[in-house]
Formats: sequence, C-alpha cells, structure tokens
Amino acid sequence: MSALPPGFIPTSDVLEGRLSGADVRRLELAYGNEELLYGLDVLGLAGPFSRVTPWELEDERGVRRINASGYAATPFGEMPPAITDFMQAFLRENRAMGLPQQSTGPWRAALQANLVRLLARELPSHADSQVFFCSSGTEAIEGALKFAKAWRPKAKFQISFASGYHGKTLGSLSLTPNPEYQDIFRPLVPGALTSPYGDLDALRSLIRRVGPGNVGCVVIEPIQGEGGVNIPPAGFLRGVGELCRQHGITVIADEIQTGLGRTGHWFESAAQGLDADIITLAKPLGGGMTAVGATIVRAPIYKKMLGGLSSKRHSNTFGGGALAMAVGMKSLEYLIENDLPARSARLGEQGLARLQALQARFPKLLQAVRGQGMLFALQFQPMVGVPLPGPLKELVFEATAILALRELHGAGVMANLSLSSKRTVRLTPALDMPQDVFDTMFDRVEAFVQTHPNARDLLTRTPPQVTARLAAFAASKPKKRTPSDG
Ligand SMILES: Cc1ncc(COP(=O)(O)O)c(C=O)c1O
Repeated sequence: MSALPPGFIPTSDVLEGRLSGADVRRLELAYGNEELLYGLDVLGLAGPFSRVTPWELEDERGVRRINASGYAATPFGEMPPAITDFMQAFLRENRAMGLPQQSTGPWRAALQANLVRLLARELPSHADSQVFFCSSGTEAIEGALKFAKAWRPKAKFQISFASGYHGKTLGSLSLTPNPEYQDIFRPLVPGALTSPYGDLDALRSLIRRVGPGNVGCVVIEPIQGEGGVNIPPAGFLRGVGELCRQHGITVIADEIQTGLGRTGHWFESAAQGLDADIITLAKPLGGGMTAVGATIVRAPIYKKMLGGLSSKRHSNTFGGGALAMAVGMKSLEYLIENDLPARSARLGEQGLARLQALQARFPKLLQAVRGQGMLFALQFQPMVGVPLPGPLKELVFEATAILALRELHGAGVMANLSLSSKRTVRLTPALDMPQDVFDTMFDRVEAFVQTHPNARDLLTRTPPQVTARLAAFAASKPKKRTPSDG
C-alpha cells in the first residue's frame, strides 16, 4: 500500500476526532467559503459542533445547545438512530447496484412507488404520476421547470412569487426574485415574472396581461420558508390551482421545505386544496443523512418530456442511487410509523402559542411571529434609533437576524436565518424532538426574549469587539482571514 502524500488528511484523523476545532476552522477558511465561515466565526457560530443526542449539539468547550437549525433538512435530528441503524443494515446486507443509472433498481422502484402512493392518498389524481430523482432541492426545481417547458414549449413566461425561494442554480435562481442572489448573474433564464404572494387578483391580472397561452408554469411554495414563514390567506392556493387549470398552466408546488410533515401535513399544498401538476421534494426525504431530491410529475407531462427516444433528455449520475433511495424509504417509513406530520401539527400549535404570548409581551423586540407545524418564525423589529457611522449602520440594518441568532445561540438554542428575509429567524426542530426538549427549547427562547425586550438590545448586548470586527468585515475587500482559536 502506498503512503499518503504529505498534507493529505487521512479519514481516520477525522473519524477519530484528531482534527481540533481550530484545525477545522483553519482548513475551512483556507479551502472553502472563507468569507461566510469567517463571518460565522466572528459571531462565534462557526463550530464545529458535535452531536450529543439527535436534538442537542455541543461545541468544543462542551457547551450544549438544543438544535433547531438544519433548514428543515434534519427531520429527525443529527444522526438519528432509526436512520443510522438502518444504514448499517443496508451496508451489511444490500446487494443492489449503488448507482443503477441505466437499469432498474429495487430501492428506486420502491421509493418511487411509495412516494406516488403517499401523494395519491391526498390527491387521487396523482395515482399514476411518475418520479424523477436527483440530489438537491434546486435540482428538483430544475427538473420541474424542464417538464413544464417541454409540456408547453412555446410559452415564454414562468411565474413565481415575491419573497419566494427555489434554489440557486440558474433556472431556480431566475424564479427566486432576490437581487442579492440574482443581480451579478443577469441575464438569467428569460421569461421569469414575479407576482405578489397571496394576491390572487394580481396573479390573474399578470396572466391576463402577458396572455394565458404564454405562461408555461406557476411555481409556488405553499408556505414561504426562506421568505420567513409566510402563510398565504385561506383560499389562495386553491385559487392558484383553479386559475391555472382554467388556462392550462402547469402548477409546480415546491414542497422542498414544507413537505413530508414539517408544516403538519404530508403535502401542505394538498392540505390547502391545491392539486399541483408537479410537486418537488428534497430536504427531509434524505433523513438528515443523505441527499435526495424528487420531482413528482403527472404522467402525461412526464411522458411528453421523457417519452420514447427522448427518455435520456433529462438525467443525472447520482439520482436514484441505492443508499439515497434506501434512506429516503426509511425516512418515509419512520414518518409514517411515528405519525410525525400529526405530531408536528400538535406541537406546532403549542410552540406558536408560546411565541404569540411572547410577541404580545415584547412587541419592541418581536414585530411578528408565525408558525405552522414545526416551522416557526420570529420576525424582529428593526434595530433603529442607534446613531452609527456608514458601514456599521448598513451592517446593523442587515444584521438584525444575525445578531438575534447569536444571542439565541448564547441562550442555548441553535436557529436558522431566512435566506430571503433579513429580520427573521426560524426554528426548525426535529419532528420527533421529545416533548421535554421541545419545552426547554421554548423556555430558552423565552429567556432570550426577556433579556432583550427591545430590538436595540440585540446590538447593545453584542460585545463591542464583535460588532467592530463585523463592521470591518462588512466594509473590507476580500483578503485572507485568520480563524479564532475557539
Ligand atoms: C422551498 C425551497 N425550494 C428549494 C430549495 C433549494 O433546495 P437546496 O438547497 O437543496 O438546493 C429550498 C432550500 O432552502 C427551499 O426551501
């Protein structure tokens, strides 16, 4: 056996914990997204964190926190035994091909069938739908956009909604109307139009203005996740479905964040009366352990793009891989056996009630709170009224959620930013988080709110050296960054 070259890090070093926290931060800054990780490091949020239980993480000083981060992609927490035990059995016993690209595969076959049957329980019109697998949410959207395009090839326009988020590859980015992510990449895929979320009349006028026959698809999140947990008015989703059906426009329900129980239903769009033509799934399908994306498509639309000799028009190498499919199957099984969508709805009501009570008591900190199922949002008041010089002022405006995240971290709860909403922090706890951990998490959120009754406190309680480093970071041009020692 040849020796590893100097500097090559052996797997055993990582597996056996021989990389220190400082080593990890140094390597990440040197070879990864240095600026992002430096920003997190300045805030004390860079980790690395390790798992204590599926629901609790520990930093290198041994401080434990309840994990409500994970951007809805860790439905059963970190390294959930139900999934990891199954993965071990899979590794021991599986004899099916790992990547059955050009052949049938038992795991893919079974997961396709299970997904369609689950969906058809809610939406019988999907009983003969077909599934295309991939390895991320954005890729599931890219597939959906191609299916819609092939279905109505002459249509010039696709419609998505303000504050929506569908991913960052070029197609999905074109329908994610956020200048921060889009501007440098213009021109994007042509024909993307934006309509206000929750406003059916506006969508109707837009479609009328450009001509219904020119609209290929409408892409919609049943609840906007990255937009800050925006719940549309009752009847909106049903109305979108009816309007599009009337004009033969394909509806893509992006359930990547909401689907499979997060919002208390298997498919939030179906629960809200929308029978979409295409449904995208990803995040929780991978059980927090693998990357699985799925695009579920009505049979005629599927066949139009991939029928006959065109069956290779859309493909990928890793989609349908045995390990990913097997974990996807186990995730669905675990969700069903533990009735997690219903549990999510039940605990969600408790959590939201606690947040609403807090918002009523502390309106100078919390402008609004929102939630459905185990998807919670705390929207903070702007940190105004603080006279600050140029770049720091900019930063402070931008940084409300970042500083809130830091303070929550200090209170023992790890939370998420919202990619398309600057003043909103989200909590996405595991759907199977035990009740006592769930209650403690909200006790800690409450303790955090009580010690920060005014949004200004987010800034004043941040140590001046941290604000100064953040300001310097925001103002400076990229350069090599030095990580902290932990
Ligand atoms: C609704 C929605 N669609 C698409 C995506 C993109 O998924 P991914 O990050 O796996 O590409 C996300 C990710 O947050 C999402 O929330």
